[in-house]
Amino acid sequence: MEQKWWHDSVVYQIYPRSFCDSNGDGIGDLNGIRSKLDYLSELGIDVIWLSPVYQSPMDDNGYDISDYQAIAPEFGTMEDMDALLAEARERGIRIVMDLVVNHTSDEHDWFQKACESKDSPYRDYYVWRDAQPDGSAPSDLGSIFGGSAWEWHEPTGQYYLHLFSKKQPDLNWENPKVHEEVHTMMNWWIDKGIGGFRLDVIDLIGKEIDKGITGNGPRLHPLLKQMNRATFGDKDLLTVGETWEATPDIAKLYSAEEREELSMVFQFEHITLTWRDGDKWQPEELDLKAFKQVLTKWQLELKETGWNSLFWNNHDLPRAVSKYGDDGQYRIKSAKMLATVLHCMKGTPYIYQGEEIGMTNVQFDRLEQYQDIESLNFYKVKTEAGVSHDEMMHALAENGRDNARTPMQWSAAPHAGFTTGQPWIEVNPNYIDVNTEQDMASNESVYHYYKELIALRKQNKVIVYGEFTPVLEQHDKVFAYLRHDDSTRILVVANFSGESVTVDLSQFEGFDIETLVSNGDMNTSKLSELDLQPYDAAVLKLI
Ligand code: GLC
Ligand code: CA
Repeated sequence: MEQKWWHDSVVYQIYPRSFCDSNGDGIGDLNGIRSKLDYLSELGIDVIWLSPVYQSPMDDNGYDISDYQAIAPEFGTMEDMDALLAEARERGIRIVMDLVVNHTSDEHDWFQKACESKDSPYRDYYVWRDAQPDGSAPSDLGSIFGGSAWEWHEPTGQYYLHLFSKKQPDLNWENPKVHEEVHTMMNWWIDKGIGGFRLDVIDLIGKEIDKGITGNGPRLHPLLKQMNRATFGDKDLLTVGETWEATPDIAKLYSAEEREELSMVFQFEHITLTWRDGDKWQPEELDLKAFKQVLTKWQLELKETGWNSLFWNNHDLPRAVSKYGDDGQYRIKSAKMLATVLHCMKGTPYIYQGEEIGMTNVQFDRLEQYQDIESLNFYKVKTEAGVSHDEMMHALAENGRDNARTPMQWSAAPHAGFTTGQPWIEVNPNYIDVNTEQDMASNESVYHYYKELIALRKQNKVIVYGEFTPVLEQHDKVFAYLRHDDSTRILVVANFSGESVTVDLSQFEGFDIETLVSNGDMNTSKLSELDLQPYDAAVLKLI
């Protein structure tokens, strides 16, 4: 496998609205990010994935773009963006931009012009269909944000498609003009010196709507090959696709080097395990064995072809420590355990802002506290369909996207030091105990542990390229695996439970053990009866 700069890189995701506010309007912004570059550089990350900062009416917090080549005024100016790129570059940090091209905002110029008449040259930039004879929508296709995916446009007498909110009309990827526009825009950003693209819901662009196909449509991979050739293909950039329905075989289609599509994709199989019947509003307990099986499968299937991205959470998902660890008594310990397991697998690790200090879900108890369009839409859809208020509030607390979007907790100052004004969304009240200032000051903190793990990856090629072999596969509380190459063997052991467990690792007896990183004080002198305290984790070198 040819080595790439993004193989041993660690990516840090910033959700700009919630990261740092520089001017007291309560909304995070580009200059806020600039003021935290030293913090990020100290942590040791190589890449920032910047969620959208483009001009937008913010129906979906920027995932509804009205001008791809302008910055939203609440986030700053293009000069601020250029300064951010330059200052990041000085610190060896690359910036990956969020590319949202399945849809635009309905306030984008193209859509505005498309709405003028059926003969508008922009009409075909979007997906329009006639009503059925009885006036109803062209199909019963549902929007991912609830309700119909079709919106009636009275002035021109047709429906348009929106797989997300009705303020996010889908672009028509069957129109070559759309390809040209998007490629030109991408090249404009590439020329600015960005580090790559995270491609939002990219598996939807090959859709064949009249056949009811949305994800993984037949034209998806040809479109990506074409995009690769026309834009980033010869530029050595990091490209990562958001692909909710990817299986390992599909992931190889995107990320096999010789196919010249993307560097890697985000797959969600391990995430949706806790969604009953694929419905995030019916949260279920984690089945660790199933979780291990899924992650192991991805590690093994992509070992020679393709590349994995590694993540526990992002701006759409609950906080990792709340979902997969224990955000109460064992918050620090379990946050470190999760980090250990993630950062030692093969692939590129992604850290979501605040994960590095063990930020938790928020527990809003009133609907009015939620801001997210998806949460608010589904509250309505579900309660109208008979789900009780309490059940839905529980589902929102478990899986609502605002868990990830409460402001970054910088200090114990008012509003967690995020803003001097009124934050656009409430701060998690636990900021007094959970904040970067405190974490940076303590050697025992989650923050310092992340720093150690990031450095460990840089120092040990075996973590980047070594083989992955599962250990204790049938255990329902402990996740263990080996990373190995011709010269080095590293054993990762992690207790995913709040109980003490004893495991038999006598298969490794005979090796001398050096503990590289650990979140407790695991006594490794007797491998046949290795005692693990709650959420214990360690990276052990077998010599
Ligand atoms: C992706 C984004 C999400 C957004 C949606 C529509 O899933 O991660 O935040 O709402 O696409 O753009
Ligand atoms: Ca601001």
